[in-house]
Amino acid sequence: MAENKLQKSQNSSDEEDDDRKPDIISRYRPGHIIDHERKGQQFTFHTENRVKLQIQIHNPDIIQIRYFLEGDVQSDFSYAIDPDFQSEEVDISFIEEDRLFEISTATLSCIITKKNMLVHFFDAEGNMICEDEHGFYRRESLMKGISEIKVTKKAPKGDRYYGLGDKAYKQNLRGRAFENWNTDAYAYERGEDPLYRSVPFYAGLHQDRAYGIFLDNTYRTRFSFDRKENNISSFSAAGGVMNYYFINGPTLTEVSERFARLTGKPEMPPMWAIGYHQCRWSYYPESRVRHLASTFRKKKIPCDALYLDIDYMDEYRVFTWNNDLFPNPAEMISDLKKQGFKTIVMIDPGVKVDDNYPVYTEGRENRYFCTRPDGEMIIAPVWPSKCAFPDFTHPDVRDWWGDLYEDLLQEKHISGIWNDMNEPAVFEIEAKTFPEHVRHHFEGHPCSHKKAHNIYGMQMARASLEGIKKHNPDKRPFLLTRANFAGGQRYAALWTGDNIASWDHLKLANEQSQRLSISGYSFVGSDVGGFVEQPSPELFSRWLQLAIFHPLFRNHTMGYNVDGAAAVKKEEVELRKAQSDLDQEPWVFGEKYTDINRSIIELRYRLLNYLYTAFYNYVQHGTPIIRPLGFYDQTDKKALEENDAFMFGDHILVSPVLEKGAEEVETYLPEGKWYDFRSGDLLEGRQTHMVEAPLSEIPFFVKAGTVLPLREVMQYTQERDPELLELNVYAGSSDQTGQLYEDAEEGYNYKEGDYRLTSYNIEIRENSLTITASREGKFKPKYDTVLLNIIGLSFEPDSLTVDGKAQSLKKDDGRYTVQATPDFNKIILSR
Ligand code: GLC
Repeated sequence: MAENKLQKSQNSSDEEDDDRKPDIISRYRPGHIIDHERKGQQFTFHTENRVKLQIQIHNPDIIQIRYFLEGDVQSDFSYAIDPDFQSEEVDISFIEEDRLFEISTATLSCIITKKNMLVHFFDAEGNMICEDEHGFYRRESLMKGISEIKVTKKAPKGDRYYGLGDKAYKQNLRGRAFENWNTDAYAYERGEDPLYRSVPFYAGLHQDRAYGIFLDNTYRTRFSFDRKENNISSFSAAGGVMNYYFINGPTLTEVSERFARLTGKPEMPPMWAIGYHQCRWSYYPESRVRHLASTFRKKKIPCDALYLDIDYMDEYRVFTWNNDLFPNPAEMISDLKKQGFKTIVMIDPGVKVDDNYPVYTEGRENRYFCTRPDGEMIIAPVWPSKCAFPDFTHPDVRDWWGDLYEDLLQEKHISGIWNDMNEPAVFEIEAKTFPEHVRHHFEGHPCSHKKAHNIYGMQMARASLEGIKKHNPDKRPFLLTRANFAGGQRYAALWTGDNIASWDHLKLANEQSQRLSISGYSFVGSDVGGFVEQPSPELFSRWLQLAIFHPLFRNHTMGYNVDGAAAVKKEEVELRKAQSDLDQEPWVFGEKYTDINRSIIELRYRLLNYLYTAFYNYVQHGTPIIRPLGFYDQTDKKALEENDAFMFGDHILVSPVLEKGAEEVETYLPEGKWYDFRSGDLLEGRQTHMVEAPLSEIPFFVKAGTVLPLREVMQYTQERDPELLELNVYAGSSDQTGQLYEDAEEGYNYKEGDYRLTSYNIEIRENSLTITASREGKFKPKYDTVLLNIIGLSFEPDSLTVDGKAQSLKKDDGRYTVQATPDFNKIILSR
């Protein structure tokens, strides 16, 4: 009897065990909509199977789409969205029909199907822009939680896809899938993915009409653009909420601008920050840094900033100095300052575990470092073999970190900070970063590293920026970061990481910079010359030529640090002498190349006012500083196909030389007429031209009708007050406008109206050219003369008036020149 009982109970427990499974997986696709409600500009739809869709109209051109399951905890928290972004009151029409709902603004209409909650977007004329294929999907399980949220959309043949921040790939992303997971991608190759930063935003172009999608989700995200050639695109995340913004165009540039307005823009940089920067891993000891500085001045190669890479620290302890190598940093830095050099130093996130090191002990005592779920600190190797990592997602930690900069800024007179390794990078392990279980505060929404990984670098940059601003309040900050996330453009400039000195990497530097720029991130550049390996003299000069058109213009190389983490030993100072063939300064390739490189860098300094004006438009309106040609004319198939030539600001088209040995370059010029900057020759648009490109020259073209400001070349941006501003006036066939933005180039007075925005208007008639200038703001420039070079006049003028007063005409080299004061209003050349 007892045996029977035992038998029975064993059977039943077997049966019970059979019932149990390793996990319970649930998959959700929305069913029929059964209910809906509206609260102001927010609409909520409910399906029979618990899916909830929330549509929020932020302005006529930005609509936020979110999916939840009934019962989910909802939060509006976002690191990406600019805290200053404000929704507007919008006139909305809401219609319910048999099979659908329609929500419309003046420019966009969003249709939601009742049957399966698909979301489609149309323009005001009723043209389809972007349609769901299967729409929303979510997979979750009891053991793992939400593991995938996804939206699938149609990818009609011919649709193109741009953006996605940093991908080492050509402009149109169609045919590929990409992932966002910030990764230390040392010596990455073309096509390698993911890279250092995540910007889950793309612009789509459907039949000449552009729209944008921004997936505001910090988990690992994945984007597929018709990868399976089934005309389907999708975006998904490994957790969290499906929360995306649909951004209207209709132009690609407008999509980028709206995305930048949604996620924020930086403030104006100081002018010196867009001068030439010289970096390497690493300049030491002090004597070498001083020698470097004096060589720039001796060789008359303009330069505004020098960098100290990790070796200036005491055994890689952040916020310390190696006193053997730099016995008196404050003195060295102020001497450099006198010579016109700003000094920028590196700060990494990894804090050396060391009981005698206050940064570590303070962080540990205050529990500022990231921990595992049970409270144990995560300790991992980066430069020091044992590091703790501040949890930058905690406001107190950011404050503490920001204050650590006080000594660097106030005592040592450092002008800029370079944050690196903040993916966060971890050496030696395959994952290259923290385990996913590491915990983060996330502004009071505690979470795991799965959710915080992609914004770790961004929050480090934020902490740094806030500290720099606090401890150097009168100066504009300069901060450079490697890792980042959408919206991080508010805090720091970035460079494209550890590239290679190869011709393909020159191409990639071009493609990556354009892509980042249209993804909200204009303050960007590559390591000029390549970080890994050495460039040939030719490659180096070509790289410089490309980079004078990149907002961040920095030469950087890993030099002789061939095996990565060499500790600072005194002998290395000697060792480097033997290895100076790995140097990459503009003068190391021989005199012929030094002259070429000097004139390239000088050209950058000539163009600084133009770049600064483009910066103003970026800061003001979110307009990307550099743009692929397709953004100039998205109806032009040839321009859309172009990967190399690009727009620099609104008026310059750059046709970089990216091939070894090339002496000429084939360039397609889109709509309009274009002047070759070098010769002043006028070329027709909508045509391909073969133009000369000897190594000493970079072909670039100025749009007819442009007023191009040219600055005096100086050895550094603030060397002296300029005496003169030149304006190249490129006569066009139709009336055109142009702009020049000026301010003190430092400090914040420009925010109180101490700036000057000059708008030029060019009117061209058969026998006359009229240039009018109108101005806004109270800033008075320092120069007292404006010299206008009139290029491409189609008639021979015999009279010139400047503000009504007759002047004699001067012709120089086929160009008429006109002298005026900085406040001139009207110049007329006529016959
Ligand atoms: C990383 C950076 C590189 C830097 C090096 C040493 O590789 O990307 O720019 O020179 O670390 O700090």
